Amino acid sequence: MKTQLVTRATGAPLNRIDGVQKVTGAAKYAYEYPVEGVTYVFPVQSAIAKGRVVSIDASAARALPGVIAVLSHENAPRLAPLDDAELAVFQADAIAYHGQFVAAVVAEMSEIARQAASLVVVHYEEQPHDVELRADRGDLYKPQSIALGYYQTDTFDGNVEAALTSASVSLDHVYTTPPYHNNPLEPHATTAIWSDEGVTLYDANQGAHSVRDAVATAFSLPPERVRVIARYVGGGFGSKIFAHPHVILAVMAAQAAGRPVKLALTRQQMFALVGYRTPTIQRMRLGAESSGRLTAIAHDVVEQTSTIQEVAEQAAVPSRMMYAAPNRRTTHRLARLDVPVPTWMRAPGECPGMFALESAMDELAIACGLDPIELRIRNEPAVDLESGRPFSSRGLVACLRQGAQRFGWAPRDPRPRARRDGPWLIGTGVAASTYPANQLPATALVQVDHVGNYQVRIDATDIGTGAWTVLTQIAADALEVPPERVQLEIGDSSLPKAGLAGGSAGTASWGWAIVNAASALRARLHKEYGGNVPAEGLSAGGAFETNPEAQQFSMHAFGAQFAEVRVHVTTGEVRVPRLLGVFAAGRIINPKMARSQLLGGMTMGLSMALHEASVLDPRFGDFVNHDFAEYHIATNADVGTIDVTWIDEEDLHVNPMGAKGVGEIGIVGTAAAIANAVYHATGIHVRDLPITLDKLLP
Ligand code: MOS
Repeated sequence: MKTQLVTRATGAPLNRIDGVQKVTGAAKYAYEYPVEGVTYVFPVQSAIAKGRVVSIDASAARALPGVIAVLSHENAPRLAPLDDAELAVFQADAIAYHGQFVAAVVAEMSEIARQAASLVVVHYEEQPHDVELRADRGDLYKPQSIALGYYQTDTFDGNVEAALTSASVSLDHVYTTPPYHNNPLEPHATTAIWSDEGVTLYDANQGAHSVRDAVATAFSLPPERVRVIARYVGGGFGSKIFAHPHVILAVMAAQAAGRPVKLALTRQQMFALVGYRTPTIQRMRLGAESSGRLTAIAHDVVEQTSTIQEVAEQAAVPSRMMYAAPNRRTTHRLARLDVPVPTWMRAPGECPGMFALESAMDELAIACGLDPIELRIRNEPAVDLESGRPFSSRGLVACLRQGAQRFGWAPRDPRPRARRDGPWLIGTGVAASTYPANQLPATALVQVDHVGNYQVRIDATDIGTGAWTVLTQIAADALEVPPERVQLEIGDSSLPKAGLAGGSAGTASWGWAIVNAASALRARLHKEYGGNVPAEGLSAGGAFETNPEAQQFSMHAFGAQFAEVRVHVTTGEVRVPRLLGVFAAGRIINPKMARSQLLGGMTMGLSMALHEASVLDPRFGDFVNHDFAEYHIATNADVGTIDVTWIDEEDLHVNPMGAKGVGEIGIVGTAAAIANAVYHATGIHVRDLPITLDKLLP
């Protein structure tokens, strides 16, 4: 049942409830909980990409004062089989990727553990590895499904080849994106404490319940004997969605040491152990009438996965629903390589996929002699052609129009190299954004005491997004009380189960469960107690299962991104003085938090356009630029003005709050808008990210 929410607290720019705790250091992260008798674990990583461990000499490490244990496949406890083979820490001598755990030292101090780890001598039997992704590999395969079964691998509609052949205007280009590493500010960290009841983890993750389940399975424990606490998390961007091997290692080490253990991965270790976005090779073919009306879209994607765990990113999925092309084809093929296991990273699928589609749309506009905004408007579909369903709301055209006005697009001379300021060529570009309005099952419990204070309990996770604040606002409105009367408890697997902080689904899913719990509580209070809270207080639970309207409507957020760039004629240096993002993401629960999310997404998109790229060395199979000195992320000096705004949109088909997610859409389209602006400035189409100086020099 869906009842519309009263809107008093929601919609207001409340400050972060956890803001003071964060800036004063009172908000504890996973590594920071003081634990009696704690020890520290430091891993030893494989120096080869493929082969096996022949022997391990840990004598020097064991001799170091303060060393408690050295673990490896030779002495580690046996784990139960797991769906995720990446988590089978020390279960065999086989090496599947460079950087895999081969041993670990537990010691009284972290420095001792680290030094001892450097003294462990590992002998390998090395086998030739294969880490090179190419579209012409003969062993590319079609995964069963993509995005963990969320989507079909391939889709075909109409006759793409015939439509491309007979199109008045057509293009056929390959766009490539490199691997990206998620790099949250807080490294992945776990504190593991065993007791008679089971094991408690303070862990940096995007969903305590899912980490709990992974640990319970691995150690053959009933889930209720594993408790995972993640009250404050310093970013994740997808790399903290799934448990990674360090979580298992921490629990195993604490068991072996018979004492609590802390483990925080170093930044360098994170480049092998907690996932990254697959590189993509995307062939994009578009066919159109001379009016610019699309007749065909073909989007064929090649990606990589590891040998031990399949991850299939849904990069071609946005090409299925963005535009009104009657003939469409999307495919995904994977190369299984001896590489670290990829994972999801902010807007998996849409982020790299829309770089290709939106760059190609710009090239099509040029080929048709049309303004790129006009081209997109001409290809606005009446319904989602893939599912045949109407959109619950679709604000793309409104975003493009409002953005054009706000950005000052109108007097634009479309010719490249037409604007110049001294040695700087100036260009502007536009691209569309989209991200699905996802929802995941959630449960919540609401409790009221006799003085009218409410407690809301749900295992949601705030990874820095503002969940503490927006869920309090939603609860306040659902209970029709001021937010000060609501006390929220989140980030703990002992709370009612809820889905991940992922897929931009958090607010929509957790919020709906809270709304249902609140209305159950209010109904109980009125029916059973005549509106008077009993002395012992009262509680009620609520759940969100699925949105019945998800079968009737196609539900997505949309946006339009505009960029102005300056490219230096002599050096090829690219500056981005101005970005504008206009979004249609349903009702905005908290403008301050939403703006931060969108601003962060766009900054990450700028970083993707110009800086970020993980470089895999084919000789050794490892990512060589594995720290912030060499993996470049946009800094303040790289970012000019970023203007973030949104159109008024309240979509009650999506949920009672009328809100779509804002966590991921901000990164979608930014890189294409910048690449399109770079073309406008220079006349050079850079189809291979990042846009570095060398690609712009003759
Ligand atoms: Mo996002 S990649 O679903 O954290």
